[in-house]
Amino acid sequence: SPPPPSSVNGPAKAGMKDFLHISDFDKATIMKILDRAAEVKAVIKSGDRAFLPFKGKTMAMIFAKPSMRTRVSFETGFFLLGGHAIYLGPDDIQMGKREETRDVARVLSSYNDIIMARVFAHQNLVKDILDLAKHATVPVINGLTDYNHPCQIIADALTMIEHVGRLEGTKVVYVGDGNNIVHSWLLLAAVIPFHFVCACPKGFEPDAKTVQKAQQAGISKIEITNDPQEAVRGADVVYSDVWASMGQKEEAAHRRQVFQGFQVDENLMKLAGPKAYFMHCLPAERGVEVTDGVIEAPNSIVFPQAENRMHAQNAIMLHALGL
Ligand code: CP
Repeated sequence: SPPPPSSVNGPAKAGMKDFLHISDFDKATIMKILDRAAEVKAVIKSGDRAFLPFKGKTMAMIFAKPSMRTRVSFETGFFLLGGHAIYLGPDDIQMGKREETRDVARVLSSYNDIIMARVFAHQNLVKDILDLAKHATVPVINGLTDYNHPCQIIADALTMIEHVGRLEGTKVVYVGDGNNIVHSWLLLAAVIPFHFVCACPKGFEPDAKTVQKAQQAGISKIEITNDPQEAVRGADVVYSDVWASMGQKEEAAHRRQVFQGFQVDENLMKLAGPKAYFMHCLPAERGVEVTDGVIEAPNSIVFPQAENRMHAQNAIMLHALGL
């Protein structure tokens, strides 16, 4: 008979934890994951291949939408620490079509030690990643939903610690659409104190409940504005993302009109000041949300940021597996 459905982080996952939303974790846990990421990164960079905590373990990776960074960073990171990852693209899964999420969760749990999923409620692939986590008996890692992108934000925090020197007390200014990246920054700001500003066009503000949650936590200064020039003054980091997902061609054309004035260019970075770093979760559309000059400037840290996806996720998986 099938195993009983587990609750998220419930008894069926004793000693193991899902990684679904930044808000599921306290500051000490997030800092521990970040310390672990730095340690594991140092081991991998040293060329030492004897650290194999994932040896004999397998991971199922569900991708309802394309990915380069998330797929390759998870697969490479898991492999470098001894594990084997299995890619399941949209054609490999029936989840949300005719097969129920709870069945997929149970079957994949019987083959694998951990599940990573990029799923979208609006595609009806799963109502929410919570559904998958609820029915899986192994840890589920959120590899991006339409609501948030917690693995990206842990990698971003690691990158800020390495380059800015700290995350606490910094000013992070996001310029663009109030999307899943912004939601994850807001959830982080509810746990760790820093100044977070989202500068977006009217009508593209982040989810109001998430803004409220971050503000009510009373830990960080949170601002939502429509004025990028004013927002970036004194920023430690100016952060951008594509104005529309790479697949949304018609929406992209519309948004290019609406987002006029929200491009991160050399003038905006000058207002931010000489010490401000530029970050972007990538993929970027050069010449659209960010100029080529900004992404190639010495204070652009987008490539170390992308590399840190792998190290952050290794630490997240070690934590999820209780290793
Ligand atoms: N930043 C990010 O998640 O990139 P991919 O879509 O390539 O995975």
